[in-house]
Amino acid sequence: MEPGFWHERWQKGEIGFHLDRFNPKLLAYWPRLAVPGNATVFVPLCGKSLDMLWLREQGHRVVGVELSPVAVSQFFEENDATPEVTECPPHTAYTTDGIRLYLGDYFALTPEQVWHWGEEAPAHTDTAIYDRAALVALPPEMRSRYAAKMRSLSRPGTKMLLVTLEYPQAERAGPPFSVPPDEVSAHFADVATIEHWADDDVLPEHPHWQARGIAYLREHVFALTWHG
Ligand SMILES: C[S@@+](CC[C@H](N)C(=O)[O-])C[C@H]1O[C@@H](n2cnc3c(N)ncnc32)[C@H](O)[C@@H]1O
Repeated sequence: MEPGFWHERWQKGEIGFHLDRFNPKLLAYWPRLAVPGNATVFVPLCGKSLDMLWLREQGHRVVGVELSPVAVSQFFEENDATPEVTECPPHTAYTTDGIRLYLGDYFALTPEQVWHWGEEAPAHTDTAIYDRAALVALPPEMRSRYAAKMRSLSRPGTKMLLVTLEYPQAERAGPPFSVPPDEVSAHFADVATIEHWADDDVLPEHPHWQARGIAYLREHVFALTWHG
């Protein structure tokens, strides 16, 4: 998906992916990941996800990246926060208590931007990643680039909660795209230990997918730990 696709989605308010509640899979599985409270948690392709507020409530410093200025401004407006704005080309950083959003391209981020922002940043912080509707938002060739970038940003010991969808791709065009377990292994098995924590039939929760005759829709949860 090119940037123009996402800018248009946000401008038109076509954001069916956005949840007006915390993601149930985050609530169910994040505690099991055992990420220390003071860890920095990276949320790639973050939109205006409320999950960032929940992660901050757990004590984490949260850093997101998002292409759309509409998403970034709505995130702060809707959560009654006035961010401090700083330029860090090619991104603009919007920072409020414990949350920083980089407005700009995920593919242009550096590890320093992700893990070392803010004066209070400890030299050695535990690191974690939460991917919901990020990897699955991208078409196949971009997913390989996304994974390569994630590999370059991660550190030994980084933990990641990754939520993907799986369905017969021939029956529906993405996004979201189908990302089955073997693709997750292909992207990350050589750099991280991967545990497959959930494989749920979620078709009954998606009547519009059922109505379109999609044969199955599964939601997977993976826990990754980067090798030391
Ligand atoms: C399907 S949405 C998911 C948003 C969020 N993760 C959530 O759960 O609500 C994907 C988001 O990624 C953003 N995006 C797409 N490509 C991007 C890129 N290269 N860099 C930063 N953000 C990007 C889009 O603008 C969109 O808000």
